[in-house]
Amino acid sequence: MATLFVPRETAPGERRVAVTPAAIKKLARWDLTVVVEAGAGDGAGISDEAYTDAGARIGDPGAIGDASVVARVAPPSVEEASALSADMVLLTFIAPHRNLEVVAALAEGGVTTLAMELVPRISRAQSIDALSSQANISGYRAVITAAYELDKYFPLFMTAAGTIRPATVVVLGAGVAGLQAVATARRLGALVKVSDIRPAAKEEVESLGGTFIDVPSDEDLTGEGGYAKEAGEDFLTRQRRILTENLAGAHAVITTAQIPGRPAPMLLTTPMIEAMPAGSIVIDLAAADGGNCELTDVEGPVEHGGVRILPGHHLASSMAAEASAMYANNITSFVELLVTDGQIGLDRDDEVVAGALLTHEGRVVHERTAALLEGGAT
Ligand code: NAI
Repeated sequence: MATLFVPRETAPGERRVAVTPAAIKKLARWDLTVVVEAGAGDGAGISDEAYTDAGARIGDPGAIGDASVVARVAPPSVEEASALSADMVLLTFIAPHRNLEVVAALAEGGVTTLAMELVPRISRAQSIDALSSQANISGYRAVITAAYELDKYFPLFMTAAGTIRPATVVVLGAGVAGLQAVATARRLGALVKVSDIRPAAKEEVESLGGTFIDVPSDEDLTGEGGYAKEAGEDFLTRQRRILTENLAGAHAVITTAQIPGRPAPMLLTTPMIEAMPAGSIVIDLAAADGGNCELTDVEGPVEHGGVRILPGHHLASSMAAEASAMYANNITSFVELLVTDGQIGLDRDDEVVAGALLTHEGRVVHERTAALLEGGAT
Protein backbone atom coordinates (compact mmCIF):
# COMPACT_ATOMS: atom_id res chain seq x y z
CA MET A 1 0.00 0.00 0.00
CA ALA A 2 1.43 3.39 -1.03
CA THR A 3 1.90 6.20 1.47
CA LEU A 4 1.15 9.85 0.79
CA PHE A 5 2.97 12.32 3.04
CA VAL A 6 1.71 15.82 3.77
CA PRO A 7 4.49 18.06 5.13
CA ARG A 8 4.03 21.18 7.20
CA GLU A 9 4.49 24.10 4.81
CA THR A 10 7.64 26.11 5.45
CA ALA A 11 7.44 28.99 2.93
CA PRO A 12 7.08 32.35 4.69
CA GLY A 13 3.43 33.38 5.01
CA GLU A 14 2.08 30.06 3.70
CA ARG A 15 -0.88 28.96 5.84
CA ARG A 16 -2.47 26.44 3.49
CA VAL A 17 -2.06 22.68 3.69
CA ALA A 18 -2.17 20.33 0.70
CA VAL A 19 -4.55 17.71 2.12
CA THR A 20 -7.52 18.20 4.46
CA PRO A 21 -9.38 15.61 6.56
CA ALA A 22 -12.22 15.49 3.98
CA ALA A 23 -9.68 14.67 1.27
CA ILE A 24 -8.15 11.90 3.39
CA LYS A 25 -11.45 10.06 3.34
CA LYS A 26 -11.36 10.14 -0.48
CA LEU A 27 -7.72 9.00 -0.60
CA ALA A 28 -8.59 6.05 1.66
CA ARG A 29 -10.95 4.78 -1.07
CA TRP A 30 -7.91 4.14 -3.26
CA ASP A 31 -6.13 2.27 -0.45
CA LEU A 32 -3.58 5.01 0.19
CA THR A 33 -2.12 5.48 3.64
CA VAL A 34 -1.86 9.16 4.53
CA VAL A 35 0.76 10.46 6.97
CA VAL A 36 0.48 14.12 7.96
CA GLU A 37 3.36 15.96 9.60
CA ALA A 38 2.40 17.11 13.10
CA GLY A 39 1.01 20.65 12.99
CA ALA A 40 0.67 20.69 9.17
CA GLY A 41 -2.92 21.91 9.40
CA ASP A 42 -2.33 24.58 12.08
CA GLY A 43 -2.34 27.52 9.64
CA ALA A 44 -5.65 26.38 8.16
CA GLY A 45 -7.22 25.71 11.56
CA ILE A 46 -7.06 21.91 11.18
CA SER A 47 -5.87 20.02 14.25
CA ASP A 48 -3.81 16.83 14.24
CA GLU A 49 -6.80 15.18 15.89
CA ALA A 50 -9.05 16.10 12.94
CA TYR A 51 -6.57 14.32 10.69
CA THR A 52 -6.40 11.20 12.84
CA ASP A 53 -10.21 11.14 13.09
CA ALA A 54 -10.28 11.09 9.28
CA GLY A 55 -7.96 8.09 9.23
CA ALA A 56 -4.51 9.66 8.77
CA ARG A 57 -1.44 9.03 10.89
CA ILE A 58 0.51 11.92 12.36
CA GLY A 59 4.26 11.68 11.79
CA ASP A 60 7.43 13.65 12.32
CA PRO A 61 9.27 15.17 9.32
CA GLY A 62 11.37 11.99 9.04
CA ALA A 63 8.26 10.01 8.09
CA ILE A 64 8.59 11.48 4.59
CA GLY A 65 11.20 8.77 3.93
CA ASP A 66 8.50 6.07 3.63
CA ALA A 67 6.32 8.02 1.23
CA SER A 68 5.75 7.32 -2.44
CA VAL A 69 3.83 10.57 -2.91
CA VAL A 70 4.45 13.94 -1.24
CA ALA A 71 1.76 16.61 -1.58
CA ARG A 72 2.56 20.19 -0.76
CA VAL A 73 1.26 23.66 -1.61
CA ALA A 74 4.31 25.93 -1.90
CA PRO A 75 7.62 24.94 -3.52
CA PRO A 76 10.10 23.12 -1.29
CA SER A 77 13.37 24.81 -0.42
CA VAL A 78 16.52 23.43 -2.11
CA GLU A 79 17.26 21.60 1.15
CA GLU A 80 13.78 20.06 1.29
CA ALA A 81 13.98 19.11 -2.40
CA SER A 82 17.36 17.43 -1.86
CA ALA A 83 15.93 15.38 1.03
CA LEU A 84 13.37 13.66 -1.24
CA SER A 85 14.30 10.22 -2.53
CA ALA A 86 14.49 8.93 -6.04
CA ASP A 87 11.18 7.54 -7.34
CA MET A 88 9.08 9.70 -5.05
CA VAL A 89 6.29 11.62 -6.74
CA LEU A 90 5.99 15.24 -5.64
CA LEU A 91 2.78 17.20 -6.29
CA THR A 92 3.21 20.92 -5.66
CA PHE A 93 3.08 24.45 -6.99
CA ILE A 94 6.67 25.19 -7.87
CA ALA A 95 6.82 28.27 -10.14
CA PRO A 96 9.70 26.55 -12.00
CA HIS A 97 10.95 29.73 -13.72
CA ARG A 98 11.54 31.34 -10.31
CA ASN A 99 12.90 28.24 -8.57
CA LEU A 100 15.41 26.78 -10.97
CA GLU A 101 17.76 25.65 -8.21
CA VAL A 102 14.94 23.68 -6.59
CA VAL A 103 14.00 22.11 -9.94
CA ALA A 104 17.64 21.14 -10.49
CA ALA A 105 17.81 19.54 -7.04
CA LEU A 106 14.62 17.55 -7.70
CA ALA A 107 15.91 16.33 -11.06
CA GLU A 108 19.27 15.41 -9.56
CA GLY A 109 17.55 13.43 -6.80
CA GLY A 110 15.48 11.44 -9.35
CA VAL A 111 12.21 12.82 -7.99
CA THR A 112 9.15 12.79 -10.26
CA THR A 113 7.69 16.27 -9.95
CA LEU A 114 4.19 17.07 -11.13
CA ALA A 115 3.80 20.86 -11.07
CA MET A 116 0.29 22.02 -10.30
CA GLU A 117 0.68 25.17 -12.42
CA LEU A 118 1.61 23.10 -15.48
CA VAL A 119 -1.62 21.05 -15.45
CA PRO A 120 -3.16 21.68 -18.90
CA ARG A 121 -6.29 23.88 -18.93
CA ILE A 122 -8.45 21.20 -20.60
CA SER A 123 -11.98 20.15 -19.61
CA ARG A 124 -10.89 16.77 -18.29
CA ALA A 125 -8.40 18.41 -15.92
CA GLN A 126 -10.78 21.01 -14.45
CA SER A 127 -10.97 19.21 -11.11
CA ILE A 128 -7.13 19.30 -10.92
CA ASP A 129 -6.84 22.98 -11.89
CA ALA A 130 -5.31 24.46 -8.74
CA LEU A 131 -4.34 27.70 -10.48
CA SER A 132 -8.05 28.39 -10.97
CA SER A 133 -9.19 27.21 -7.54
CA GLN A 134 -6.68 29.49 -5.83
CA ALA A 135 -7.00 32.44 -8.25
CA ASN A 136 -10.74 32.51 -7.64
CA ILE A 137 -10.12 32.99 -3.94
CA SER A 138 -7.44 35.64 -4.54
CA GLY A 139 -9.70 37.65 -6.84
CA TYR A 140 -12.51 37.65 -4.29
CA ARG A 141 -10.25 38.42 -1.37
CA ALA A 142 -8.50 41.26 -3.22
CA VAL A 143 -11.78 43.13 -3.58
CA ILE A 144 -12.82 42.45 0.01
CA THR A 145 -9.40 43.68 1.18
CA ALA A 146 -9.70 46.84 -0.94
CA ALA A 147 -13.21 47.50 0.38
CA TYR A 148 -12.00 47.05 3.95
CA GLU A 149 -8.89 49.17 3.54
CA LEU A 150 -10.63 52.08 1.74
CA ASP A 151 -12.59 54.65 3.69
CA LYS A 152 -15.12 54.70 0.88
CA TYR A 153 -18.45 52.98 0.29
CA PHE A 154 -18.46 50.65 -2.73
CA PRO A 155 -22.20 50.98 -3.57
CA LEU A 156 -24.25 53.98 -4.56
CA PHE A 157 -26.04 55.35 -1.50
CA MET A 158 -28.98 57.70 -1.82
CA THR A 159 -30.17 58.78 1.58
CA ALA A 160 -31.92 61.76 3.13
CA ALA A 161 -28.49 62.86 4.36
CA GLY A 162 -27.07 62.91 0.86
CA THR A 163 -25.91 60.78 -2.03
CA ILE A 164 -22.68 58.83 -2.10
CA ARG A 165 -21.36 57.90 -5.51
CA PRO A 166 -20.16 54.31 -6.00
CA ALA A 167 -16.48 53.44 -5.92
CA THR A 168 -14.63 52.82 -9.18
CA VAL A 169 -12.52 49.67 -9.32
CA VAL A 170 -10.08 49.05 -12.17
CA VAL A 171 -9.11 45.42 -12.77
CA LEU A 172 -6.07 44.64 -14.90
CA GLY A 173 -6.14 41.11 -16.32
CA ALA A 174 -9.46 39.30 -16.76
CA GLY A 175 -8.41 35.70 -16.20
CA VAL A 176 -9.79 33.63 -13.34
CA ALA A 177 -8.73 36.00 -10.53
CA GLY A 178 -9.65 39.11 -12.50
CA LEU A 179 -13.13 37.91 -13.43
CA GLN A 180 -13.81 36.92 -9.82
CA ALA A 181 -12.64 40.39 -8.77
CA VAL A 182 -15.02 41.96 -11.30
CA ALA A 183 -17.94 39.84 -10.08
CA THR A 184 -17.18 40.57 -6.41
CA ALA A 185 -16.75 44.32 -6.93
CA ARG A 186 -19.98 44.43 -8.95
CA ARG A 187 -21.84 42.53 -6.19
CA LEU A 188 -20.66 45.23 -3.78
CA GLY A 189 -22.05 47.87 -6.13
CA ALA A 190 -18.81 49.35 -7.51
CA LEU A 191 -18.33 50.58 -11.08
CA VAL A 192 -15.74 48.30 -12.64
CA LYS A 193 -13.41 48.94 -15.57
CA VAL A 194 -11.20 46.20 -16.94
CA SER A 195 -8.22 45.82 -19.23
CA ASP A 196 -7.01 42.58 -20.79
CA ILE A 197 -5.05 41.87 -23.93
CA ARG A 198 -7.08 38.82 -25.00
CA PRO A 199 -10.04 39.96 -27.13
CA ALA A 200 -12.18 37.10 -25.71
CA ALA A 201 -12.01 38.75 -22.29
CA LYS A 202 -14.21 41.67 -23.43
CA GLU A 203 -17.40 39.64 -23.63
CA GLU A 204 -16.71 37.91 -20.30
CA VAL A 205 -16.12 41.24 -18.58
CA GLU A 206 -19.26 42.77 -20.05
CA SER A 207 -21.38 39.76 -19.06
CA LEU A 208 -20.39 40.48 -15.45
CA GLY A 209 -21.36 44.15 -15.71
CA GLY A 210 -17.84 45.52 -16.14
CA THR A 211 -16.74 48.05 -18.77
CA PHE A 212 -13.92 46.88 -21.02
CA ILE A 213 -11.09 49.33 -21.66
CA ASP A 214 -10.24 48.85 -25.33
CA VAL A 215 -6.58 49.02 -26.30
CA PRO A 216 -6.32 48.72 -30.09
CA SER A 217 -3.88 46.09 -31.33
CA ASP A 218 -2.99 44.81 -34.80
CA GLU A 219 -1.98 41.48 -33.34
CA ASP A 220 -4.18 38.87 -31.57
CA LEU A 221 -2.41 38.52 -28.23
CA THR A 222 -4.14 35.24 -27.35
CA GLY A 223 -1.50 32.57 -26.89
CA GLU A 224 -1.61 28.81 -26.48
CA GLY A 225 -4.27 27.25 -24.24
CA GLY A 226 -6.20 30.54 -23.94
CA TYR A 227 -3.31 32.19 -22.09
CA ALA A 228 -1.96 35.60 -23.06
CA LYS A 229 1.10 36.11 -25.25
CA GLU A 230 3.74 38.49 -24.03
CA ALA A 231 2.73 41.91 -25.42
CA GLY A 232 5.38 44.02 -27.14
CA GLU A 233 6.61 47.30 -25.70
CA ASP A 234 4.56 49.26 -28.29
CA PHE A 235 1.31 47.73 -27.08
CA LEU A 236 2.26 48.15 -23.42
CA THR A 237 3.07 51.84 -23.96
CA ARG A 238 -0.31 52.39 -25.65
CA GLN A 239 -2.05 50.40 -22.91
CA ARG A 240 -0.38 52.43 -20.13
CA ARG A 241 -1.46 55.69 -21.80
CA ILE A 242 -5.10 54.56 -22.05
CA LEU A 243 -5.01 53.17 -18.51
CA THR A 244 -3.67 56.46 -17.14
CA GLU A 245 -6.85 58.16 -18.39
CA ASN A 246 -8.90 55.61 -16.43
CA LEU A 247 -6.85 55.78 -13.25
CA ALA A 248 -7.64 59.39 -12.38
CA GLY A 249 -11.04 58.39 -11.02
CA ALA A 250 -10.09 54.97 -9.59
CA HIS A 251 -10.43 54.18 -5.90
CA ALA A 252 -9.03 50.66 -6.15
CA VAL A 253 -6.91 48.91 -8.76
CA ILE A 254 -6.65 45.12 -8.66
CA THR A 255 -3.88 43.82 -10.89
CA THR A 256 -3.83 40.17 -11.95
CA ALA A 257 -2.02 40.20 -15.31
CA GLN A 258 0.31 37.25 -15.82
CA ILE A 259 2.15 35.50 -18.64
CA PRO A 260 2.77 31.84 -17.72
CA GLY A 261 6.40 31.18 -16.84
CA ARG A 262 7.52 34.77 -17.39
CA PRO A 263 7.80 37.95 -15.35
CA ALA A 264 4.44 39.71 -15.00
CA PRO A 265 3.84 42.58 -17.45
CA MET A 266 4.60 45.98 -15.96
CA LEU A 267 1.35 47.90 -16.33
CA LEU A 268 1.50 50.59 -13.65
CA THR A 269 4.49 52.93 -13.69
CA THR A 270 5.29 55.42 -10.93
CA PRO A 271 3.84 58.38 -12.92
CA MET A 272 0.62 56.36 -13.35
CA ILE A 273 0.41 55.82 -9.59
CA GLU A 274 0.97 59.55 -9.19
CA ALA A 275 -2.06 60.11 -11.46
CA MET A 276 -4.29 58.22 -9.01
CA PRO A 277 -6.21 60.07 -6.30
CA ALA A 278 -4.58 60.14 -2.85
CA GLY A 279 -6.26 57.58 -0.58
CA SER A 280 -6.70 55.01 -3.35
CA ILE A 281 -5.25 51.52 -3.23
CA VAL A 282 -3.56 49.03 -5.57
CA ILE A 283 -3.60 45.31 -4.83
CA ASP A 284 -1.06 43.46 -6.97
CA LEU A 285 -1.83 39.76 -7.28
CA ALA A 286 1.15 39.32 -9.61
CA ALA A 287 3.58 40.45 -6.89
CA ALA A 288 5.46 37.13 -6.70
CA ASP A 289 6.27 37.31 -10.42
CA GLY A 290 7.69 40.82 -10.25
CA GLY A 291 4.32 42.58 -10.00
CA ASN A 292 2.20 44.57 -12.43
CA CYS A 293 3.16 47.78 -10.66
CA GLU A 294 6.64 49.28 -10.63
CA LEU A 295 6.31 50.15 -6.94
CA THR A 296 5.08 46.76 -5.68
CA ASP A 297 7.21 45.33 -2.89
CA VAL A 298 6.69 41.61 -2.43
CA GLU A 299 7.58 42.00 1.27
CA GLY A 300 4.70 44.32 2.15
CA PRO A 301 2.69 47.52 1.62
CA VAL A 302 4.26 50.63 0.09
CA GLU A 303 2.81 54.16 0.11
CA HIS A 304 3.51 56.64 -2.68
CA GLY A 305 1.81 60.03 -2.93
CA GLY A 306 -1.00 58.84 -0.69
CA VAL A 307 -1.63 55.70 -2.79
CA ARG A 308 -1.08 52.38 -1.04
CA ILE A 309 0.28 49.43 -3.03
CA LEU A 310 -0.26 46.02 -1.42
CA PRO A 311 1.29 42.77 -2.64
CA GLY A 312 -1.54 40.24 -3.10
CA HIS A 313 0.26 36.97 -3.71
CA HIS A 314 -0.71 35.61 -0.27
CA LEU A 315 -4.41 36.36 -0.53
CA ALA A 316 -5.44 32.74 -1.18
CA SER A 317 -3.34 31.70 1.80
CA SER A 318 -5.12 34.30 3.94
CA MET A 319 -8.32 32.26 3.46
CA ALA A 320 -6.38 29.16 4.40
CA ALA A 321 -9.20 26.78 5.38
CA GLU A 322 -11.22 27.17 2.20
CA ALA A 323 -8.19 27.55 -0.06
CA SER A 324 -6.81 24.29 1.42
CA ALA A 325 -10.14 22.52 0.93
CA MET A 326 -10.17 23.48 -2.77
CA TYR A 327 -6.49 22.66 -3.24
CA ALA A 328 -6.91 19.31 -1.50
CA ASN A 329 -9.70 18.46 -3.96
CA ASN A 330 -7.31 19.30 -6.82
CA ILE A 331 -4.64 17.06 -5.26
CA THR A 332 -6.99 14.11 -4.72
CA SER A 333 -8.25 14.36 -8.30
CA PHE A 334 -4.64 14.26 -9.48
CA VAL A 335 -3.79 11.31 -7.24
CA GLU A 336 -6.81 9.47 -8.64
CA LEU A 337 -5.12 9.66 -12.06
CA LEU A 338 -1.94 8.12 -10.66
CA VAL A 339 -3.20 5.29 -8.47
CA THR A 340 -4.11 1.74 -9.41
CA ASP A 341 -4.72 -0.94 -6.74
CA GLY A 342 -3.05 1.15 -4.06
CA GLN A 343 0.11 1.63 -6.12
CA ILE A 344 1.33 4.84 -7.75
CA GLY A 345 2.18 4.76 -11.43
CA LEU A 346 2.84 7.34 -14.09
CA ASP A 347 1.08 7.16 -17.45
CA ARG A 348 3.13 9.51 -19.58
CA ASP A 349 0.66 9.07 -22.44
CA ASP A 350 -1.94 10.81 -20.30
CA GLU A 351 -2.16 14.42 -21.50
CA VAL A 352 -2.60 15.77 -17.97
CA VAL A 353 0.34 13.84 -16.52
CA ALA A 354 2.55 14.66 -19.51
CA GLY A 355 1.66 18.36 -19.31
CA ALA A 356 2.36 18.65 -15.58
CA LEU A 357 5.55 16.57 -15.58
CA LEU A 358 8.50 18.74 -14.62
CA THR A 359 11.24 16.33 -13.51
CA HIS A 360 11.46 12.57 -14.06
CA GLU A 361 14.18 9.90 -13.97
CA GLY A 362 16.92 12.41 -13.26
CA ARG A 363 15.94 14.90 -15.97
CA VAL A 364 14.05 18.16 -16.28
CA VAL A 365 11.45 17.09 -18.84
CA HIS A 366 9.54 20.38 -19.11
CA GLU A 367 11.16 21.94 -22.16
CA ARG A 368 10.99 25.62 -21.24
CA THR A 369 12.35 24.99 -17.75
CA ALA A 370 15.13 22.81 -19.13
CA ALA A 371 16.04 25.62 -21.55
CA LEU A 372 16.03 28.16 -18.71
CA LEU A 373 18.35 25.92 -16.71
CA GLU A 374 20.70 25.69 -19.64
CA GLY A 375 20.51 29.47 -20.03
CA GLY A 376 18.97 29.05 -23.49
CA ALA A 377 15.49 30.51 -22.99
CA THR A 378 14.50 34.15 -23.12
P1 NAI B 1 -3.22 34.29 -15.99
O1 NAI B 1 -3.17 34.21 -14.51
O2 NAI B 1 -2.13 33.64 -16.79
O3 NAI B 1 -3.29 35.83 -16.43
C1 NAI B 1 -4.33 36.66 -15.94
C2 NAI B 1 -4.84 37.54 -17.05
O4 NAI B 1 -3.87 38.53 -17.38
C3 NAI B 1 -5.16 36.81 -18.37
O5 NAI B 1 -6.53 37.00 -18.69
C4 NAI B 1 -4.23 37.48 -19.38
O6 NAI B 1 -4.82 37.59 -20.66
C5 NAI B 1 -4.05 38.84 -18.73
N1 NAI B 1 -2.92 39.65 -19.23
C6 NAI B 1 -1.69 39.29 -19.61
N2 NAI B 1 -0.98 40.36 -20.02
C7 NAI B 1 -1.78 41.45 -19.86
C8 NAI B 1 -1.64 42.84 -20.10
N3 NAI B 1 -0.54 43.38 -20.59
N4 NAI B 1 -2.70 43.64 -19.81
C9 NAI B 1 -3.85 43.15 -19.33
N5 NAI B 1 -4.04 41.83 -19.08
C10 NAI B 1 -3.03 41.00 -19.37
O7 NAI B 1 -4.60 33.78 -16.56
P2 NAI B 1 -5.60 32.70 -15.97
O8 NAI B 1 -6.47 33.32 -14.98
O9 NAI B 1 -4.81 31.53 -15.55
O10 NAI B 1 -6.47 32.37 -17.26
C11 NAI B 1 -5.83 32.21 -18.52
C12 NAI B 1 -6.80 31.65 -19.54
O11 NAI B 1 -7.11 30.32 -19.26
C13 NAI B 1 -8.11 32.40 -19.64
O12 NAI B 1 -8.45 32.44 -21.01
C14 NAI B 1 -9.07 31.53 -18.94
O13 NAI B 1 -10.40 31.70 -19.38
C15 NAI B 1 -8.52 30.17 -19.33
N6 NAI B 1 -8.91 29.10 -18.43
C16 NAI B 1 -9.38 27.93 -18.96
C17 NAI B 1 -9.75 26.90 -18.13
C18 NAI B 1 -10.23 25.62 -18.71
O14 NAI B 1 -10.52 25.55 -19.88
N7 NAI B 1 -10.31 24.58 -17.92
C19 NAI B 1 -9.68 27.02 -16.68
C20 NAI B 1 -9.15 28.29 -16.23
C21 NAI B 1 -8.78 29.27 -17.09
